[in-house]
Amino acid sequence: MADLSVKHLLGIKNLTEQDLQTIFETADQFKAVINRSIKKVPSLRDITIANVFFENSTRTRLSFELAEKRLSADVINFSSASSSVKKGETLLDTVKNILSMKVDMVVMRHSSPGAPHFLAKHIDANIVNAGDGTHEHPTQALLDTYSIREKHGEVGGKKVVIIGDISHSRVALSNIFALQKLGAEVMICGPVTLLPKYISDLGVKVELDVRKALEWCDVANILRIQLERQKTKNFPSLREYSLYYGVNKKMLNALDKEITIMHPGPINRGIEITSDVADSEHSIILDQVENGVAIRMAVLFLLAQKR
Ligand code: CP
Repeated sequence: MADLSVKHLLGIKNLTEQDLQTIFETADQFKAVINRSIKKVPSLRDITIANVFFENSTRTRLSFELAEKRLSADVINFSSASSSVKKGETLLDTVKNILSMKVDMVVMRHSSPGAPHFLAKHIDANIVNAGDGTHEHPTQALLDTYSIREKHGEVGGKKVVIIGDISHSRVALSNIFALQKLGAEVMICGPVTLLPKYISDLGVKVELDVRKALEWCDVANILRIQLERQKTKNFPSLREYSLYYGVNKKMLNALDKEITIMHPGPINRGIEITSDVADSEHSIILDQVENGVAIRMAVLFLLAQKR
């Protein structure tokens, strides 16, 4: 089996296309495992993994924990809300204390961009970035592109539009890097106030009209408005955002083709996407969640080989 070029998974930007293919091929094998009646393998027996979450999460935290347990790793969970961070302990002290309990790998979500990169410079364990602020969410992009590969056979040559709050989205940036490395054409679409100023440097198409974006694409990945990361008001109201950028069934019915609908979750139904689109036969939203476990098993397994 091929090796990864990295010791830590900090982002998609510093991975090679071969790394992505290696992760996908390994995930194919783990997906077969988790569809068996006996879903567990001993691959990470005697490896201890700490899931260190400084920000809320449902999918990513549960998916990592399940992936670790399916690989027979020992797992400890840390949530900053109920920790001594509240008493003033620093990030580095917190993680060093966790590691002194003989932990081999750290899966971390943090609101500060670069937090996992900082940790990787100071500690010996393998670090997996489970989302750092507005920067990257690499395992989300891996499971998203893996789900496109599963649905369409390959990612190369596909036209993928990412719609919504691009400026505040780590999912968008990681997806742009992953899709481009795999040879897809990438468009972003949203109100100009929610597009980053540096967007033209990323080599993506930009479209402000969501109907034109939907006409262009094979796959639409729809993002929520990340109000928790917005310090200023970027549009008049959620109702107005929904009127201009919310994807609904009428828009999809007006297309002369069928497109694949994706969303990383959590969904705000009725704002960026209507329920009849989120739950339609062309939606692969729950397949994305299912594939997240196999992708995270692959990432953890491959990084453990670098120890
Ligand atoms: N997609 C995603 O990161 O979801 P959570 O915030 O629930 O982990």
